[in-house]
Amino acid sequence: MKLYAISDLHVNRAPNWEALQALPPHLDDWLIVAGDVSESEAQFAAAMGLLSQRFARVLWTPGNHDLWAHPNSPAQARGIFKYNRLVSICRAYGVLTPEDPYPVWPGADGQAYVIAPIFTLYDYSFRPAEVAADEAVAWAAETNIVSTDEYYLFPDPFASRQAWCAARCRYTEGRLQSLNGDQALVLAGHFPLRQDLVQLYRIPRFSIWCGTRLTEEWHRRFPVKAVVHGHLHIRARHERDGVTFHEVSLGYPHQWQAARGVAGYLRQVLPGEG
Ligand SMILES: [Fe+2]
Ligand SMILES: [Fe+2]
Repeated sequence: MKLYAISDLHVNRAPNWEALQALPPHLDDWLIVAGDVSESEAQFAAAMGLLSQRFARVLWTPGNHDLWAHPNSPAQARGIFKYNRLVSICRAYGVLTPEDPYPVWPGADGQAYVIAPIFTLYDYSFRPAEVAADEAVAWAAETNIVSTDEYYLFPDPFASRQAWCAARCRYTEGRLQSLNGDQALVLAGHFPLRQDLVQLYRIPRFSIWCGTRLTEEWHRRFPVKAVVHGHLHIRARHERDGVTFHEVSLGYPHQWQAARGVAGYLRQVLPGEG
């Protein structure tokens, strides 16, 4: 029995969807899907339906692409309303979300783990100290970098994505604080929890759309064994303070090798290296 993770499946790209359909069943294993499944609700539902058939348990947390809405769409199709619709789709397939009780992974090494899918978003705080918060987008735009989220990721009913992010962090912190402090945790979100994990050599100023400093110390404040994230499309494994941080993106078709299939990109999170 294993706990695997993958993110950034981006199944609106035909090669990604075809490769996902070819993924063999893992009927004893669990899978974390750490966001960016698809902008389309229909494709999102198809992917969740497929994965829920192939794994014993699937956990999902939203990525920015999952939350996109057309600029002409009504407020009820945006922001937390779109998020809630995706949560409903997940529940129809038995997929657990950041709104559900955190399951306990029984483990194979005698240790049980609480697996917490978390949704924390970003607030432009992954920026240098000399750049003011309200100048962060202009600062990134100086190098011709503007995330498409600026046009498609709406915060309704919050006034801003920063406000939504702050609310999500308060909610998530409250839930983590209410857990039994003796139980080991795996945190799984789309966005990196720490700025020092965002190493984007070609587009460094994209960092402002990657996370929030509000989560910088969560791996030390809570009994965290491992953290899963995606979003960067740069697969990696980092250690911070004895905690393993896994970047588990599949990414766009040019970022993975078809010969390996999706199975070649499933990251084993548990059992860990001990
Ligand atoms: Fe992505
Ligand atoms: Fe993303």
